[in-house]
Amino acid sequence: MSKIIIKTEEEIEGMREAGRCAAHILNEVKQKVVAGVSTWELDQFAKSVMDSLGAVSSAHGYGDKKNPYPAYICVSLNDEIVHGIGRRDVIVQDGDIVSLDVAVNYRGFVGDNTVTVGVGTLSKQHQLLLDVTEQALYKGIDQAVEGNCIGDISWAIQSFAEKHRLGVVRELVGHGVGRQMHEEPQVPNYGMPHSGPRLKAGMTIAIEPMFTLGLPKLCTLDDGWTLVTQDGSYSAHFEHTILITKDSPEILTTLKK
Ligand code: MF3
Ligand code: CO
Repeated sequence: MSKIIIKTEEEIEGMREAGRCAAHILNEVKQKVVAGVSTWELDQFAKSVMDSLGAVSSAHGYGDKKNPYPAYICVSLNDEIVHGIGRRDVIVQDGDIVSLDVAVNYRGFVGDNTVTVGVGTLSKQHQLLLDVTEQALYKGIDQAVEGNCIGDISWAIQSFAEKHRLGVVRELVGHGVGRQMHEEPQVPNYGMPHSGPRLKAGMTIAIEPMFTLGLPKLCTLDDGWTLVTQDGSYSAHFEHTILITKDSPEILTTLKK
């Protein structure tokens, strides 16, 4: 039995507003990513934009009661894959790659999106990592149409990464998204075509490839949240929340409309 929620027209309108809101916040924070800014400042700025819009961070307080996620957005630098926590003593520098993951609840619905931005001059390899990870997101989105399966999205993403010899993180996946940040189904970045749940119009999912330049093995830092690559290689992450329709997928985390 599938617990995948098919959204009503009203819920879809709510998801569109939440998606636009999350995209707006991400876009604002993105512009603050320059050499010299601390990752804590990025987090505080994100929180202030959320407050001004009446949006609430879905990350803040997430997880185990013993160690809830303490920040408002995830800021993950270089070898950090995801769930990085902004810190006053971590200053963004030329050549860094910074991933910003913004998930917010806006009027009862969640929008979830991520970009990884390069600061100043990047090495060729690091630029390739960013470009391929972003392109893989769109390869996945292209498959997100009614009648296809989750595995079609997964395979599009995995095969594109492998073609460019990048590592595909296995432990973290995309997800259904709606009134909750994490709903069914899981949306892995690896898998077989024609496998997994079938996509239907009205489903809303977050697709989020996470690739590494080296081996995609991870470990957790002492803060209990930040996931880094074991081999220290850099990692990139891009994410959109999208709506499945009968034809082209609709990207909800966009500034347009
Ligand atoms: N966008 C992330 C996700 O899809 C948000 C993580 S929130 C955290 O899971 F609290 F786990 F960091
Ligand atoms: Co997500």
